[in-house]
Amino acid sequence: MNSYTKFSYPQFDDLPSSLKVLYTCILIILGIGYIFAMIQIYEVHAGRDGKPGISVKDIVIAYRGDKSASRIEGALKGPMSGMLPAEEKATIIAWVHDGENEDVFHKQIEPIMKTRCQMCHSGSNPHIPTLMSYDDVKSVAQVDTGVSIGTLVRVSHIHLFGLTFIFGFLGLIFSHSYMRRPHMKSVIIVLPFLAILMDITSWWLTKVSEPFGYVVIASGALMAFSFTVQWVVSFYQMWFFKCPSGEVCLPR
Ligand code: HEC
Repeated sequence: MNSYTKFSYPQFDDLPSSLKVLYTCILIILGIGYIFAMIQIYEVHAGRDGKPGISVKDIVIAYRGDKSASRIEGALKGPMSGMLPAEEKATIIAWVHDGENEDVFHKQIEPIMKTRCQMCHSGSNPHIPTLMSYDDVKSVAQVDTGVSIGTLVRVSHIHLFGLTFIFGFLGLIFSHSYMRRPHMKSVIIVLPFLAILMDITSWWLTKVSEPFGYVVIASGALMAFSFTVQWVVSFYQMWFFKCPSGEVCLPR
């Protein structure tokens, strides 16, 4: 007989219960994992800018660093602010922001240290930083330059591999679902992969340019959205959805 059955991809209804149980276990553990991932992000990034909660500013500080976060600038704007006139303060802060050049130190900064700071910061009091030499002052002038390239490479490759597995499994499970418009299913499956690329690219770009902090947040939101849609639809259809009677739940 010259007939063949067109391959039809099984929907959740057609799957053996062993496979549905396996899929369900994967969904549950992935769901718990996602919650912990969110807590981890919050723990690591919230409050970097001094305000509670997560904001674009926190993300920007994480990747770019905070150039005003050196000990000396903190001290000059805080407890030491009364020790010197405003223009000398500005000179020191500009020197820190410009990268602590040694020649400039000897010309402009050292005289200020001598007249305004060294009577207390001579090294005789072990509880406060010594400010006698270039190296002394440099050590309190280190600015936070954000996450290092090495860390970024490590975290990028872990996320690229890890997230591909997570969304690979989730997408495989979700591909058994029924959608009236089958191309919507493909779109929903592609979304998180796009978000992964956007997310990781924007970590690197945030290091160079602040507005990409918004892209980091947007791609995180897109990832969470596609995760939730695939998770909920898969779980629901696997155990509760019946193809409406009289309707053929194709195309698949
Ligand atoms: C009258 C004494 C005195 C003078 C003058 C003084 N300091 Fe201090 N400084 C202190 C004391 C005391 C502390 C520690 C207590 C504190 O942080 O308030 C301190 C702390 C600091 C710290 C450490 C802050 C931290 O993060 O731990 C820095 C940096 C600093 N001073 C810089 C300066 C500079 C720069 C000048 C000169 C413009 C200066 N100080 C002048 C007494 C002084």
